[in-house]
Amino acid sequence: MPVTSQQLLQWKKEGRPIIALTAWDFTLSRLLDEAGVDLILVGDSLAMVALGYDSTLPLTLDEVIHHGKAVQRSVRRGLVICDLPFGSYQESVQQAVQSACRVIKETGVQGVKLEGGYPAMIDTVQRLVQIGIPVLGHVGLTPQSVHLLGYRQQGRSPESRLRIVEEAIALEQAGAFAVVLEHIPSDLGLEITQTLTIPTIGIGAGCHCDGQILVTADLLGLSVKKPPFAKVYADLSQVVTHAVQQYCQDVAQKNW
Ligand code: KIV
Repeated sequence: MPVTSQQLLQWKKEGRPIIALTAWDFTLSRLLDEAGVDLILVGDSLAMVALGYDSTLPLTLDEVIHHGKAVQRSVRRGLVICDLPFGSYQESVQQAVQSACRVIKETGVQGVKLEGGYPAMIDTVQRLVQIGIPVLGHVGLTPQSVHLLGYRQQGRSPESRLRIVEEAIALEQAGAFAVVLEHIPSDLGLEITQTLTIPTIGIGAGCHCDGQILVTADLLGLSVKKPPFAKVYADLSQVVTHAVQQYCQDVAQKNW
């Protein structure tokens, strides 16, 4: 049975952890889906891991849609969500509606993710949900605000903690189906997870969230730079380099 956004809520109630990863192309997302990943995010981190940009900021809506289509074509079971890239939703509710409708229509994915919370994004989330688009929130470290926040852990000061809690609550009230908590202290992840009815999906937010997401390139050892909290499960860089070196040797020796 394909996973739905309502299913995630049910899993939170049952204490069943939500397994999430990012993807950017057909081959990778097929493998993630077959391995049992519940939520596949076409995250704007693809700007760095697939397109070689320095940050997520240059990514365009057309680029996200291009990658979203490829991912959606391969996934049979997982819930596929696409990030709205920087500049495609912050200007107005109307702009966000236009961008989200394009993503949903052109890719076939089941919802969108956007960064930020109270007050900036609340009207936007409410409107998207009103017109039937599931929204995944994202608070804590929000990489689209890198020039303001850097990539530092958020929620260290009492003011910052309070702001993140308020943002998460406001996103739930606005109708978000879940919230990503990125790079915050573990006890803050716990507090927000206990406060919200909707699921929290952590990345560098400790082990108390309702689910966990990682950038798949980090998990597979493919990233040039990885965040300190990302656990590496394989060294595919080494595997690929070794295989290609062997191929180079074979071809050089006409041994194919
Ligand atoms: O773009 C992305 O990969 C993300 C994850 C860090 C959650 O937003």
